[in-house]
Amino acid sequence: MKNLTVETFKTFTRASVLPVGSKSITNRALILGALSNQECVISGALFSRDTEIMVDCLQKLGFDIIVNKTDKIIIIKGGEIKNNKANLFIGNAGTVARFLTAFVASKVGGEYFFDSDEAMYERPMKGLLEVLEAQGAEFEFVKKAYHFPFKMRTNGLKGGKMIVDASASSQILSGLMIASKVAQNECEIVCDNTVSKPFVEMTSSMLKQFPCANYAVEPDATASSYFAILPAITGGVCEIKNFAKCKLQGDAKFVEVIEKAGIVRTQKCEDNLLVFGVDEFSNEALDLDFNDISDTFLTLASVCAYLPRKVKITGIAHTRKQETDRVSAMASQLRKVCKNVVEGEDFIEITSFTAEQNCKTRTEINAVLAEKLPEKVIIETFNDHRIAMSFAVLGCANIGRNWIEIENPSCVSKTWCEFFDVLKKCRADSEKFRVVAVDGGAAVGKSSVSKSASASLKYMHVDTGAHYRNLAYILLENNVSPDDLDALRNVLSELKLSTAVVGNSAQILCSGKVLKDSDIRCERINSVVSVFASIPEVRDFLKNYQRSMADFAKEQCFSGMIMEGRDIGSVIFPDAQMRIFLDADEETRAARRAHEGITDSIKKRDALDKNRKVAPLVCPEGASLIDTSHMTKDEVVAKAISLILNS
Ligand code: DC
Repeated sequence: MKNLTVETFKTFTRASVLPVGSKSITNRALILGALSNQECVISGALFSRDTEIMVDCLQKLGFDIIVNKTDKIIIIKGGEIKNNKANLFIGNAGTVARFLTAFVASKVGGEYFFDSDEAMYERPMKGLLEVLEAQGAEFEFVKKAYHFPFKMRTNGLKGGKMIVDASASSQILSGLMIASKVAQNECEIVCDNTVSKPFVEMTSSMLKQFPCANYAVEPDATASSYFAILPAITGGVCEIKNFAKCKLQGDAKFVEVIEKAGIVRTQKCEDNLLVFGVDEFSNEALDLDFNDISDTFLTLASVCAYLPRKVKITGIAHTRKQETDRVSAMASQLRKVCKNVVEGEDFIEITSFTAEQNCKTRTEINAVLAEKLPEKVIIETFNDHRIAMSFAVLGCANIGRNWIEIENPSCVSKTWCEFFDVLKKCRADSEKFRVVAVDGGAAVGKSSVSKSASASLKYMHVDTGAHYRNLAYILLENNVSPDDLDALRNVLSELKLSTAVVGNSAQILCSGKVLKDSDIRCERINSVVSVFASIPEVRDFLKNYQRSMADFAKEQCFSGMIMEGRDIGSVIFPDAQMRIFLDADEETRAARRAHEGITDSIKKRDALDKNRKVAPLVCPEGASLIDTSHMTKDEVVAKAISLILNS
């Protein structure tokens, strides 16, 4: 297959991603389903090479399995291993190699031939096979002793004491724990040395969850890591859907680790997690132990070529015996894009060009990388899905050219066939220009939510309440009373509106003049603004100006706009990508205003805004309503951002 050129993100990330189902959980659920005496419906399952290999092997052993890829459901009828002979091909799937082999050994009087990808011929099996031998299995090794390929004659598992060396892989221990369920006698597994302990805890928890009729697979926490770290190098925000459901996977901790290190910031939103890129990086060196979350060390390591700090990742010696020698492989590829990479048996230490220069911001980092890196960097993947996915994320860094090419990109199909499509959609969603309407009555939190969401999304913010306040001020200054329409028309006909951008906020200028906040946010204006706002001439006057703000935002190179007011989703932008209506009970609103020290008759203004003939305040049909009464500001902002990212 051709190399894949990674396209950089020309904008901040603004996307929502649903990760695939967990590989580790899907393959455990399949084995546990097979050894239970009932039918189990596994939902949210992962469909990838590793899980397809597991399904295929179980079918070869005689299990009835129905696969519904579209709905991500696998139905397995558990029971005895029916076939006493089978040729089993386990590819390069560590979970299948260890779990299935241990399970198959429980069959009395079977003869099975196991083969695998060549890469698997080197991976550790000895700790497991020695125990199975002691339990009664007999092996004939085709190549190297205690390695694939081999023939296994099975005599059932006697049970009793099993002393296991699982120092090379925690899957060896997990495989025995699962198979002990179908041993002839009680088992006592003795193991004092293993790695990646959270995976052993996952096995333990799942052994308690089975047998069961319905099993929901969590989203894959390791797969999530690629999109969780993406905003670190693009800025912006990425939503990881259903991340809160990652309860059994140690790799869910990765997000905490990178947040604690100051690389990203996170915010929960119901079951989803929003991950924000920070705007300024620390240059402090980092030393992190990744033994518990070693599948994610590659995710961080590749991004270290971007981060302006020296990073040492330790506790990863065992990954040298995984899909490939991951420490060596990562070091060899990182050397193509870093100032210095030191590799030790148990660690990798990465110094980027940007660390050497103490860069602080993405603009500085991108400039340094643009200068220091070769025109094109070809990443060798060693057929390791995680190397491909990790460097694809690094390649998103916008250094002014597409600079990373991934060799053999289809290797991602081991755990996430659609990874590159998801990344592509994420990029397209991030570049999409969105108009967001935020409406609601006084003191529901529109302004603070719109400002905060605009800042996070780097969208232009427009407060249309300020437009009406500016007009009310000008009209009062010209002694126009609301019932003198001729005078009102006269003043409006002389008035020229223009816009200035301050930060990311669009400020209205009336005939070139900026009014002070204190002039328009005071009792004098509060008492008349709704009356003026109910006059059709005033609304018409502002309508075209407000609509022109979308093009203005594009001209100013914003990727979107959040406009807040009373009629934005109903009249100004009824076709907006996202329309949000905020509401809160009266008590909450009065308390919020009082807290801000504002004495304003909210009730009176709301009544005027709701009952006027033109553009009354309503929750437009199809808008998303958020009742903010019992939510904190951060929760409302997160909810608004989540809705926007999904629009
Ligand atoms: O949001 P605010 O309190 O600054 O708005 C001031 C007034 O402006 C509000 O009482 C009604 C009016 N308004 C409106 O009628 N339509 C809008 N889109 C925004 C504000």
